[in-house]
Formats: sequence, structure tokens, C-alpha cells
Amino acid sequence: MKNDIQIIKATLAEYPIVQNLGHFYAYDLSRQCGFISDEWRFPDNGMYECIDFKTYFEDPDKKAFLIKVKGEVAGFCLLDHEKLRPETEWSVGEFFITAKFQGKGVADYVAEQIWLMHPALWELRVIPENQSVLKFWRKVVAKFTGGNYREEVIPVDYDSGQPTRILLTFDTKRHGVPPKINVRLAQSEDIASMVNLSYAKRRAYEKVQPQFWRYKKGAETSQANWFQQLLTQKDHILLVAGSEGEIAGFIIGQLITAPEVYDPGLTLMIDDFCVATPGDWPSIGAALLSQLKSLGKEKGVAQFVVVSGAHDEPKRQFLKQAGLSVASEWYVGAL
Ligand SMILES: CC(C)(COP(=O)(O)OP(=O)(O)OC[C@H]1O[C@@H](n2cnc3c(N)ncnc32)[C@H](O)[C@@H]1OP(=O)(O)O)[C@@H](O)C(=O)NCCC(=O)NCCS
Repeated sequence: MKNDIQIIKATLAEYPIVQNLGHFYAYDLSRQCGFISDEWRFPDNGMYECIDFKTYFEDPDKKAFLIKVKGEVAGFCLLDHEKLRPETEWSVGEFFITAKFQGKGVADYVAEQIWLMHPALWELRVIPENQSVLKFWRKVVAKFTGGNYREEVIPVDYDSGQPTRILLTFDTKRHGVPPKINVRLAQSEDIASMVNLSYAKRRAYEKVQPQFWRYKKGAETSQANWFQQLLTQKDHILLVAGSEGEIAGFIIGQLITAPEVYDPGLTLMIDDFCVATPGDWPSIGAALLSQLKSLGKEKGVAQFVVVSGAHDEPKRQFLKQAGLSVASEWYVGAL
């Protein structure tokens, strides 16, 4: 398939083709976005309209690419500099692969080629309702960057129907260059960053299981004291990791022996294991786990156990890819 894909820099002559595709693009997006606001109501005349793409053909700062497969129209990719982060250089404004070519790796290939053609700091904005596209971008960006991307939720003022966007940022200049991740034993100075990471995670978890992970006011102070105590305990290993001096994750392993009725050998229990963004799992998360495992091995550990929220797909995927399997599940109910 890859050899059959053409990415053609489109000129004004191709504008009508791309604009026509816009009807199907808007229709396709309505699967996920159709209930956001009345703007997404199916038009009474039976034809979805799309915003005018002409600026992508006229503005010298923007670019339009027509995608073909074996010479057949298969989609478009429109690039601009509209950004939520000032430091970003390029952004994918609109991207569409026609129905018959979806699910065949076309978008993956096109996105990679576009990023290689434009080595820069990129951002992608996703409407939160469009979870399916978010999954697609996470996958493609994580593969291209080796997991070295940032994901955050940003408020926007240009969309009254949906006032936030999920933003992915990444640097395609660094393609193929593995990020330098520094993993080291945690120190007192790291505790504030660890508590912040843990706080962000707990608030995100709370949204999914409001009772089980109900936020306790002032938890940060007690957690900071707790981490401080753990630093001095021989049966705990606390590691932090980051690139470019910033702490982007931490892991705490506790050496435990199993209850009398089991005999799995010395166990490394990993309950607190956080990274700054889901995209950090394959890089920062992997570096932390690997270092903790080697330290555990030196201490005679026979197995390690990692706790994850049942909903936390990026972490679960990472753990599965690290070769772990699910041994137990907790079911929670209110009384
Ligand atoms: C989103 C879209 C561009 C994906 O194009 P595609 O050619 O089908 O994607 P690919 O086949 O290259 O998929 C690449 C990877 O993403 C995954 N993926 C693709 N679409 C996905 C989806 N909707 N949900 C979850 N994962 C998805 C694929 O499984 C694949 O992973 P794999 O390599 O592990 O198999 C296409 O479906 C589309 O144009 N949709 C409508 C418009 C739209 O939503 N555009 C994006 C917003 S600007």
C-alpha cells in the first residue's frame, strides 16, 4: 500500500476537489462530534457543509496536500500555523482519508511523511468528544516520536460549543533521536514535583471513580511527609526521571513478602507510578520501570507487581507491552 500512496502538494487548481471532499469529511466527523451542538445537526438538505478551505491554497504560510492511492483521490492533509502554544511551528489543521482507504495505514504513512518533510515543533488539536481521533493521533504520534510527546487539555475561546481542546505537541526535528532520559534516586528536592504529578493523576482518576479516588483536601501535605519518610526506609526504592532537567515521572517500589499461604518469592510492589502525560509511558515510564527492576534484582526480588487504574489505557497498554499480565482485579461498589 505505501508504494501506492501519493502526497501531492495541492494548488488552487485542486481546491475544488479538496472542498468537495470537505462534505464527506464533515459527515465523517459527525460520527463523533454530531451531538456537540446544533451546528452539527444533520443539514435539512441532506448535505453536510464544511468550512471554506480556500485559505490553505491562497495563504503562502499554509499548505494543502491532496492524497491519492494508485492515482485515486483518497483524502487531504491541510497544514497551518494556528496554534495554542506560542512555541509551536506547524499544526495539522484538517486531515481526512476517504472511507474506502481508512484503516489501511494510509493516514499513518501520510502523517509520518508530512512530519519528515517539515522538521519542526508540531501541535495537534483534538475536540475532546472525538475520542476515536485522539486514539488515532496518540498511536501515530507515539510511534513516530517513540512516545516523546506532550498531551494536555487547553481552554480555547474560539468555540462556544466546546471550550477545550486536547493538545498534543512533539518535535519532529528529533525524529530517530532517542530522548535522553535521566533516571536517578529521588531526593528531598524532588518531593514537590512528585506530589504535583501524583495530584494530577489522582484528580484524573477521581473523575472516573469519584468515590474510590475521592480527593482529600490537604492530601498534598500528608503525601509530601509520607514520601519524605519513605526516602529513609530501606525497603522502599524511590526513583524520578525526566529529560532536559524536568521531572516527568516517578516510581516507588516496596519490597514485600507475600502472605504465608503464597510463596512467590520476594516481591517488588509498585503502587505509586506516575508520568506527566500519557505519552510519557513508553519513554519515561519504561526507563523508570527498567531501572527499578535492575535495582530490585540486586536485592533478590523474584517478581514485581504494578497497580493501575482499570480505565488507564495508556498505562495498561504500556504494562502489557512491558510483558506484564493482569493477575487480579478489584471491583468497587458503594454502600
Ligand atoms: C482519523 C483518520 C485520519 C485515520 O485514517 P486511517 O487511514 O484510517 O488511519 P490508519 O489506517 O493509518 O491508522 C493508523 C493507526 O491508528 C489506528 N486508528 C485509526 N483510526 C482509528 C480510530 N478511529 N480509533 C482508534 N484507532 C485508530 C489504526 O488502528 C492504526 O493503528 P495500528 O497501526 O496499530 O493498526 C481517518 O479515519 C479519517 O479521516 N477520519 C475522519 C476524519 C477525521 O476524523 N480526521 C482527523 C481529525 S482532523
